[in-house]
This record gives sequence, structure tokens and C-alpha cells, in this order.
Amino acid sequence: MTRLDLFIARMVSQRACLDYAIAAAAQMPGPVFELGLGNGRTYHHMREKITGRDIYVFERAVASHPDSTPPEDLTILGDVRETLPATLEKMGPVASLIHADLGGHNAAKNVAFAKEVSPLIEPLLAPGGLMVSSDRMFFETLEEQPLPPDAIEGRCFIYRQP
Ligand SMILES: C[S@@+](CC[C@H](N)C(=O)[O-])C[C@H]1O[C@@H](n2cnc3c(N)ncnc32)[C@H](O)[C@@H]1O
Repeated sequence: MTRLDLFIARMVSQRACLDYAIAAAAQMPGPVFELGLGNGRTYHHMREKITGRDIYVFERAVASHPDSTPPEDLTILGDVRETLPATLEKMGPVASLIHADLGGHNAAKNVAFAKEVSPLIEPLLAPGGLMVSSDRMFFETLEEQPLPPDAIEGRCFIYRQP
């Protein structure tokens, strides 16, 4: 696979997994968490497709496209290693859907970071809640789900809180 092939596979898989999880969690009342705003493409997609629930965005420095910038009261600024535990203390296990796209270009660093943040993400999901990630995560109780038809194995992951 060329780097272009890999990039396209990741984007197609990200959209397919997000659409699947958005539909699967649509009847749940809890908020949605977007971890890593970046340019805001996935946030924009979620904002267009999710109705009736707040989407909180976790990001250390907002630098998104103007069309994809979340309101201040739904932006949780800072390092997720600090803001996720603080949010758990404040809100409890409420999230209906968590999407994480926090990784960069270094695969080994992404794995190490996924190991570090998995135990911080896991307790935030409400029972039945879904987690979509661009990196494999390391959860104790969340169950990995089969991918929807358009997604490519290894490019995106879906987990569910039992
Ligand atoms: C790949 S980008 C997200 C792209 C986004 N999904 C999109 O569609 O535009 C990753 C983002 O995660 C953020 N990020 C990475 N590590 C973080 C951390 N420890 N705490 C908070 N934000 C972090 C980076 O600042 C970056 O904006």
C-alpha cells in the first residue's frame, strides 16, 4: 500500500466507523466526546449527523477550520491525560459515544499513548456506549466490535461498553 492508499483507507474507515457508531448510539441520551479536534473534519461530520446531544471537544490547542470550531462552553482545553480524569470527576460515566483521533505519524508513540489514555477513556462511557478510535486501544472491559462493511481492518476500531 502506498501512503496515499493508507491515508484513503484511514479516512474511509473513520467515516464508516463513525457513521455506524452514531447510528448505534442514537437513542442514548448522554453527551458525545471528540478527543483531538485537529482541523475539525470529524467534528464537523459528527456535528452534522448527531442531533439532540452535546458534543464536547477535548483538545490542547484549537486550530481548526472556522466552520468546524466548537463553542467555548463545549471545548475542554488541555492535555487529555489531565482533562479526561477531571471530566470523569465532574460528569461521571455519561458518554454515549467517544471518538478519539489523537495520534500522529509515529506508530510506536501512538501505541504507547493509546496504552496511557485507554484507562482514562474507559470509565467515561455509559453502559452500552460506543468508542471509535483510529488506533487500537487497550481496554479491560470494553468489547471490540466487528467493523461495518466499508471499513478496513486495522485502520479504525470500535469498542462497546457492556
Ligand atoms: C490527527 S489530529 C485530529 C484530526 C481530526 N480528527 C480531524 O478530522 O480534523 C489530532 C489532534 O489531537 C490533538 N492531541 C494530540 N494529543 C493530545 C493530548 N495529549 N491532549 C489533547 N489533545 C491532543 C492534537 O493537538 C491534534 O489537534
